[in-house]
Amino acid sequence: MSELVRVERLVVDFPVRTGLLRQRRVRAVDGIDLELGRGEILGLVGESGCGKSTLARAIVGLAPPSAGRVLLDGVPVPARRPPGMRRRIQMIYQDPGSSLDPRRTVSQTLAEPLRRDRTVPAGQVGLRTRELLEMVGLGERQAHALPRELSGGQRQRVAIARALAVEPEVLVADEAVAALDASVAGSVLNLLSDLRERLGLTVLFISHDLATVRGLCDRVAVMYLGSIVEEGPVAEVFARPGHPYTRVLLDAVPSRHRRRSGTVARGLAGEPPSPLRVPPGCRFHPRCPQAAERCGEAEPPEVRRDGQRVWCHFSWRDGQAFEL
Ligand SMILES: Nc1ncnc2c1ncn2[C@@H]1O[C@H](COP(=O)(O)OP(=O)(O)OP(=O)(O)O)[C@@H](O)[C@H]1O
Ligand SMILES: [Mg+2]
Repeated sequence: MSELVRVERLVVDFPVRTGLLRQRRVRAVDGIDLELGRGEILGLVGESGCGKSTLARAIVGLAPPSAGRVLLDGVPVPARRPPGMRRRIQMIYQDPGSSLDPRRTVSQTLAEPLRRDRTVPAGQVGLRTRELLEMVGLGERQAHALPRELSGGQRQRVAIARALAVEPEVLVADEAVAALDASVAGSVLNLLSDLRERLGLTVLFISHDLATVRGLCDRVAVMYLGSIVEEGPVAEVFARPGHPYTRVLLDAVPSRHRRRSGTVARGLAGEPPSPLRVPPGCRFHPRCPQAAERCGEAEPPEVRRDGQRVWCHFSWRDGQAFEL
C-alpha cells in the first residue's frame, strides 16, 4: 500500500497557565512518527487527554506543529496550507450539530464548498449536491431541512457529505460516531467503510470504542501521554498486544455506557497522567503492571515484529512477559 500521509517527529506544545503569572508549555504530542497508507483506515486509541485530537488537528492543519512535520504524498505540508492542500485532508467531529450553520439548509451547506473551491462548474452545483446527499444515504426531503430538523445521525451524514464535497483524499474522523446511538453509529460506520471501498478514501479514525476499531480499521495506533506506544495491523495488535498499556486497554472492554466518558483503563495503578509531569524513562512505567527498574531510567526501544511496532523494555506474548 503506498504511503499517503506521513507524520515525522511531530511535536505540538500549548502554553498553559500554572499560576497567576506563571506560564508553562504542555506537550500534547511528543515526537510522533506515523504513516497512513492510501485507502487504509487507521484507528487511533488511548485514554482521554493523551493527545489524539491534537495529533488529528495537526494533521488537518488546525494545530501548528512546534517541531516535526506532516507530509502529504511525500510533500512536506507548510504551516500555512494553500487551499489546494487544505482541501485534500478533511475532518469530521464528534458533534455534527455544532459544526453546521444552524441557519443554512443542508443543500446550502453542501453548495458552499462546491462554489468556494469551484469543484464543479456553477451550473452543476445542484446536481453535485444531490449526488453527495445520495452518497451518504440522504434524499430530497433532507436537502431543504435545517440542521435542527435532522436527527444526530442525519447531521453526521451531512457533515461527512460536506467533507466529501471538496473531494478529499484523507478523512480524519475524531470520535465521529461517539455521540450517536449504536444502530445509527453502525450505519455511519458502514458508510465510512463503503466510501473507502468506492472512493479509495484514507481514514484516520479516532475512537474510544475498541470493538469498533477492531471491526472497521486495518491498523491501529495506541497513544499514551503524547506518544505512540504500539502500532500495527488490528488483527495482530488485538490478538497479541505487545505493550502492557495496550493489554490493559483491551482488558477493559468498553461497554456502551462508558463510551461517552472515554476509554477506561481498568486495573491501572497510579494517577492518570498529566503532560505537565511526564515521567522519565518509559512514560507509562509508574502505572505499568510490568515495570522494572530500567523502565524508569531509559527510554524504551522500538521493537518490530510481524508489521507490529512496540515501544517497551518488555514484551508480552501469550500472557507471559519476557525481556526483549
Ligand atoms: N488548546 C489547548 N490549550 C492547552 N492545552 C490543550 C489544548 N488542547 C489540548 N490541550 C491539552 O493537550 C492534551 C491532549 O488533549 P487532546 O484533546 O488532544 O486529548 P484527546 O486524546 O483527544 O482526549 P479525549 O479522548 O478526551 O478527546 C491534554 O492534556 C489537554 O489538556
Ligand atoms: Mg479528543
